[in-house]
Amino acid sequence: MLIIRSISALTKYLEKFSDSESKIGFVPTMGSLHEGHISLVDKSIRKSTLTVVSIFLNPTQFNDNKDLNDYPVDNDADFRKLKLYHDQLILFVPEIKEVYGNNVKTKKFSFSGLDKYMEGSSRTNHFNGVITVVEKLFEIVKPDYAFFGEKDFQQLRIIESFVNDRSLGIEIIRCETKRSYNGLALSSRNKKLNNSSKKIASNLYKALRFARDNFNKLEIPEIVSNIEKKFHKISEISLEYFLIADENKLHPTNQKSNGVKYRAFIAAKINNIRLIDNINLN
Ligand code: PAJ
Repeated sequence: MLIIRSISALTKYLEKFSDSESKIGFVPTMGSLHEGHISLVDKSIRKSTLTVVSIFLNPTQFNDNKDLNDYPVDNDADFRKLKLYHDQLILFVPEIKEVYGNNVKTKKFSFSGLDKYMEGSSRTNHFNGVITVVEKLFEIVKPDYAFFGEKDFQQLRIIESFVNDRSLGIEIIRCETKRSYNGLALSSRNKKLNNSSKKIASNLYKALRFARDNFNKLEIPEIVSNIEKKFHKISEISLEYFLIADENKLHPTNQKSNGVKYRAFIAAKINNIRLIDNINLN
């Protein structure tokens, strides 16, 4: 496995794959890799001639400096996890200056309302920061395919719409959420949870399962109030939002319409660690 740190070296290496037969797969990450990330890498390796994985802790998508400083970093462990892929994989690990130059600036985008709720309203400027870096990384890697997890479904939809609006010609591949045995979605932030917090955190998945299992039986407000009541009783969890939204526009709703796909979305803090998750309902 080749580790490349500069844009010029990566561009030069990728020239070998610029013919129309070669397909470049891209898996952007912020590191602290787990089985969820690895499932994206596996999918890319199966589908592409060459896979580029980036590890870059992007400062502009954190609206809180403490959250950025607390984000788990373990480059050596990440390199070990990816090493088994040998020559099918390039690891791109740029410094902040390489990506942003001397001007760490967040670009402003219009997301046609996709960013209005959930993470968009909870984390000011978060998606502007995500797309600022994703746009830069897409320009550097010029992938044919880019792999993103449904774990961050709002991010995935915003990237799909960004690529579509700009006709970038990159195929966005949706990858299902990987979970631990108790349903807890794998996340780099889980490293900050001790065993008892992990157990409590499995209530997020239980809530999503409740919504899915009862989606045809109960009205949406009944599902939501049921979950809110349940969380009210668990003192270790502070529920930020639980809502049901249509999967394409990502607007929360209280009513079901025929032919529309819905998802339940949840965000909660456990011991000050903020977790998000979602599930498809129909
Ligand atoms: P990061 O949180 O490191 O996630 C990298 C990719 O892994 C994202 O596409 C995310 O949805 C996916 N992922 C995370 N947990 C997963 C799980 N349990 N199962 C399946 N996929 C999972 O998302 C980011 O980084 C950043 O915002 C980034 C897109 C790299 C831009 O900085």
